[in-house]
Amino acid sequence: MPRVVLVTGASSGIGAAAARRFSEEPRTELVLVARREERLRALAAELGGATVIALDLTAPDAPSRVAEEVAGAHGRLDVLVNNAGAAWHMPFAEGGWANVARTMELNFNAQVRLTEALLPLLRRSAPSAVVNVASTAGRVARAGRGAYSASKFALCGWSDALHQEERPHRVHVGLVMPGFISTEGFPQSGLRRHPLGRWILGSDRAVAEAIAECALGRRAERYSPRGYGLAAVLRVAAPGAVRAILDGRALLAARRSAGRGGHPRGPARHS
Ligand SMILES: NC(=O)c1ccc[n+]([C@@H]2O[C@H](COP(=O)([O-])OP(=O)(O)OC[C@H]3O[C@@H](n4cnc5c(N)ncnc54)[C@H](OP(=O)(O)O)[C@@H]3O)[C@@H](O)[C@H]2O)c1
Repeated sequence: MPRVVLVTGASSGIGAAAARRFSEEPRTELVLVARREERLRALAAELGGATVIALDLTAPDAPSRVAEEVAGAHGRLDVLVNNAGAAWHMPFAEGGWANVARTMELNFNAQVRLTEALLPLLRRSAPSAVVNVASTAGRVARAGRGAYSASKFALCGWSDALHQEERPHRVHVGLVMPGFISTEGFPQSGLRRHPLGRWILGSDRAVAEAIAECALGRRAERYSPRGYGLAAVLRVAAPGAVRAILDGRALLAARRSAGRGGHPRGPARHS
């Protein structure tokens, strides 16, 4: 029986890297999901074939369409990788509820709705796995990234509970927390220019390996790069110190920006 792996956000970055990683596994059939169909078709061709589902995951009928296509084309699902996501970084006073809502819609609601639609198939195909791609920002929040962190904190909390709930059904739920990775949506331009950037930045291939480890090796949680786990530990073990560092950084950024006559953190999309 072939292993069927569905990756959302497979048209670029971490999702495309994950699809390439799973294609190295023997007898694996891929289902690639994102909005840009040409990108998905090009990747499918590169990988020797895959089912392509081009849609907006926030559309009301997206989960049922994906579930129908997967059941029709493959009749089973062994791995669901909830990876599609984006960030619109700006302070709350600027982006307000509208920015929180659109971020939650894609980074949290869409993952939950898709999982709900595919869970019956995952249970029937058990042992199977769901891997949710959250972020280190889902454990530690920074100024200007409140909406993004809220969506990732929500994804982490929900994933932790789902992990326990689905265990008796042999659906493993894993959580992957990328650190800073330079991708299309998250160019990390500042870090790439920084002298220490190459030490701080991780790679999409390493995150893909962490995703595979959670899906196939049934790991519950992986940071990538691994060292980023320390930030989450310190946030719990030494909250005062972490807050002092982050408050200081935010204040410095605000002063620099005020000196330039601009906003502390401009409404740039993604970090
Ligand atoms: N890069 C980082 O530093 C970093 C750090 C921590 C966590 N992450 C997380 O990693 C995941 C992947 O990010 P990435 O860095 O690989 O970014 P990316 O290159 O921008 O990839 C995002 C993917 O999501 C898809 N997508 C966006 N909106 C969608 C929608 N409405 N419906 C369907 N698909 C949609 C995009 O495809 P289309 O545009 O074709 O729809 C694309 O394939 C995200 O969840 C992100 O939050 C990234």
